[in-house]
Amino acid sequence: MRIVKILFVASSFCWPLPDLVGTEESVELVVSKVLGNQSCATSGCHGGSGPLHGTMAKFNREDPHARSFATLATPRSARMGEALGIADVTASPSCTACHAPAAVVPAVMRGEDLRVAEGVGCASCHDSSDTWLRSHTRPDLDHAQKVAAGMRDLRPAYARANACVACHQVIAPNLVYTGRHPRLIFELDGMIAAEPPHWREVQGWDGAKAWFVGQAVAWREAAVARNAGRDDSVGAAERERALAWLVRRTGGATSAGRVDFDAKSAEADAYARKAGESWQAADGEKALRELATCAGEFRDSKVTRLEQAYRAERLVLGLDRLLAAWPERVRAAACGSALTQLFSAAQSVPDFSPEEFAAQLDGFEIALTESK
Ligand code: HEC
Ligand code: HEC
Ligand code: HEC
Repeated sequence: MRIVKILFVASSFCWPLPDLVGTEESVELVVSKVLGNQSCATSGCHGGSGPLHGTMAKFNREDPHARSFATLATPRSARMGEALGIADVTASPSCTACHAPAAVVPAVMRGEDLRVAEGVGCASCHDSSDTWLRSHTRPDLDHAQKVAAGMRDLRPAYARANACVACHQVIAPNLVYTGRHPRLIFELDGMIAAEPPHWREVQGWDGAKAWFVGQAVAWREAAVARNAGRDDSVGAAERERALAWLVRRTGGATSAGRVDFDAKSAEADAYARKAGESWQAADGEKALRELATCAGEFRDSKVTRLEQAYRAERLVLGLDRLLAAWPERVRAAACGSALTQLFSAAQSVPDFSPEEFAAQLDGFEIALTESK
């Protein structure tokens, strides 16, 4: 007997699957269906108006994910397809995997109302097993109980990073180099800030922590992809080393702790998870002050210019988020113009000048010290 493993979650859908199972015996498979947005959008639920009820309308109006399938129907996507030899990008898993994940859901798991045109729908981030949908409105259940029933927990920074990074960091190199798809740079805190929230943020959400946990998760993803041969593009090794540098520098200066393993190991994943738990409120400022002192490392001629360029790219995104999370927002604003200059010095990888960047970083450090 062949055992077929799909996704075993107790649910109302139980049936034998003759085409998947060996002939001697049939196995009863319990398959959880992936449901479409419509399942969440009835007027009594997220489709109506009111605090949580308006979720669907707000999402459709404002969230970039609601447009992600439509993006595949644009002339720009068609040109990417032409360059890549993909006749129809709206139907190719090379694109729908991230832009319309409903298209790649196996037939046995498709809910009746699942629509490819929804793009990245509610289920992509929240999971949609019918088991938790039925119970998640019960007022007597708390968040933890809903999570136990199958709702994806998006509250801890580590869990949220894992949900988003799936589509926002690793991309097949030919899509970028031949298709001219934007390179993907995962940065959790900035992305959360950029997404129009359809939720009330978790109490005590710490942007600096989210930034760091996100970078640790991005480092793990980049390393795993490179190790598995999924990213052999020019610069992949330098991008991974740049992330390693950033995570090491920050980790050592904060409660997250020193990093003495490589990103391909299980320790890297455990570290990202633990960083989300051990990070303290004061760590954002410690990280900011530490990273502001890095100018000397951009003058280190042993590090290639390409790696320096990727370090700079990640560093300025981090400084931006750390400043934004700083409790003393008003005083931090004094560093704003120094940061703008850093951003322009890091903007272009091919034109990157480590010396110029180091000089700008010196300026940022001074502005930061003065704003103390
Ligand atoms: C199933 C894949 C998928 C997941 C999961 C996902 N995204 Fe996206 N995201 C996309 C795609 C595709 C786009 C591009 C949309 C477009 O313009 O067509 C996008 C665009 C965005 C954008 C706007 C462009 C940008 O990069 O600034 C933000 C912000 C964003 N996502 C944040 C998030 C956050 C935060 C999470 C996790 C809570 C998340 N995404 C999870 C696929 C995904
Ligand atoms: C690994 C996930 C992933 C895959 C696979 C993917 N995309 Fe994207 N795509 C994204 C994300 C995330 C964004 C938003 C990036 C950003 O704004 O920085 C995006 C952005 C785009 C944009 C630009 C939107 C804009 O406003 O700038 C186009 C066009 C696009 N994708 C088309 C495609 C096509 C065509 C394919 C297949 C050949 C494809 N994508 C495959 C994740 C993906
Ligand atoms: C790109 C990822 C993403 C997509 C797509 C998405 N959400 Fe969310 N959603 C989040 C995040 C992140 C949170 C905040 C974490 C939390 O509150 O649990 C959240 C929170 C919520 C909350 C608040 C939960 C609470 O306990 O406060 C509701 C309700 C919700 N989403 C409904 C929806 C619906 C309905 C859709 C589809 C129209 C949807 N979401 C699509 C990421 C997403």
